[in-house]
Amino acid sequence: MAAARDLKATEMAGAEPGDDAVELAKRHLIQPWPFAGSVGAEARALIGEGDGIYITDGTGKRLIDGPAGMWCVNVGHRREELAKVMYDQAMALSYNTPWYTMNAPSAELAMRIASHAPGDLSHVFYTTGGSSAVETALRFMQFYNNVRGRPEKKLILSRGGAYHGSTYLSASLNGRPRDRDWMDGADELVIKLSSPDPFRRPHGMSLAAFTDFLVDQFRDTVARVGAERIGAFVGEPVQASGGVVVSPDGYLKRIREICRDNDILYVSDEVVTAFGRLGHVFASGDVFGIDPDMITFAKGVTSGYFPLGGVIISERLLEELRRSNHPDAMFGHGLTYTSHPVGCAVALKNLDLLEEGVLAHTQQVAPYFQAQLKTLEELPLVGEVRGLGLMGCVECVADRESKDPLQLDKDVGKRIDAHCHELGLLVRPLINMCVMSPPLIITREQIDEMVGILREGISRTMDDLRREGVWQG
Ligand SMILES: Cc1ncc(COP(=O)(O)O)c(C=O)c1O
Repeated sequence: MAAARDLKATEMAGAEPGDDAVELAKRHLIQPWPFAGSVGAEARALIGEGDGIYITDGTGKRLIDGPAGMWCVNVGHRREELAKVMYDQAMALSYNTPWYTMNAPSAELAMRIASHAPGDLSHVFYTTGGSSAVETALRFMQFYNNVRGRPEKKLILSRGGAYHGSTYLSASLNGRPRDRDWMDGADELVIKLSSPDPFRRPHGMSLAAFTDFLVDQFRDTVARVGAERIGAFVGEPVQASGGVVVSPDGYLKRIREICRDNDILYVSDEVVTAFGRLGHVFASGDVFGIDPDMITFAKGVTSGYFPLGGVIISERLLEELRRSNHPDAMFGHGLTYTSHPVGCAVALKNLDLLEEGVLAHTQQVAPYFQAQLKTLEELPLVGEVRGLGLMGCVECVADRESKDPLQLDKDVGKRIDAHCHELGLLVRPLINMCVMSPPLIITREQIDEMVGILREGISRTMDDLRREGVWQG
């Protein structure tokens, strides 16, 4: 103990307040998703400033913010309206306890969110982000079934390729490769189904047959396990972090029907797709024609200016609880920052911006964004370019026929990112994929600039792979 303290004192003595952030990070910061070999000892690209769709790195280099932070800076960086509303709200009321009190912005925001939500989704429970939103939805499902006298109806259906968060239960739903290799989870509560990824469907299978396969698998699983044991299905309308997987037409509607028929709550995880990414405040109803029992949201609700998330819950479920035989049963769940006034105030202003033009702009530029990205399929390293709205993914493969996801080089995405960084674009690398989800205010000219850099970054990566003898396409 004493030795550890001495070591720490020596370290601290070496660190001056004016020290380079990179050095300080290497000594004191733990960043998300670290590898054991570099945990607490690495520094990532330092970002100093942001403006519109651009960010500036530690060397002063200007980059297009390709992932819009983490799919969240929807209305762009440095919006004075948002900064001002946060300042004004903090000066008026910086915080109030949601345990015994409430604030006006949270109630007004709940009303406006409900007005955009499909079906009878009428009430909002606020959280601190997406993981806590998913966690809240699942704990609500457990509570709901306990109150309704069905304590065995708690299993959760999730899918390969899913990403739902980093808290224990939400992370237990994740289905991306590598996420769970070294991590525990509540596996006894979760049943995993196939990813609805058309690109990776069995060789020779038509899209229609693939859709039937997915739907049959869902129905068969419910029959095998028993609907009386399954509480919820959680699904992203478009699997975002799994590589922008757009499921086949009609699939989500059919899953929704099976859930309804079996009294399984459908939780649509719109942490990425809500607040404009697909040109609408919510995509479940407006894009996919479904009316979930709950929608989870976060990220774009404040365009990333403040950590906020939430769950929108169906009036029917709340009414059932109110009419139950257990009016005193308590939903023992709440976060210190539930209904945070600053978060809700900035979300209201952000929603104004979306409604006043950003949604319409997104709908207008999205087809151009998709068409331009699609031209990258000309490059032999690219297996598929796919997407919807202002989210897209370039998936690299070693061989187009076998669709081998580059077993020889798992970090091809990182290689492309490194070249693009040099050229002025931040990419979100995901193993063999590059995910693009720029701020929604991006113009056609900026889309040209972005795709041009990406093309050059991939070309340079192909040259490197050939030179190293890793790939000969
Ligand atoms: C669909 C989805 N759900 C949940 C989360 C978790 O959100 P957070 O990181 O805000 O906890 C994410 C994060 O990327 C996400 O993409």
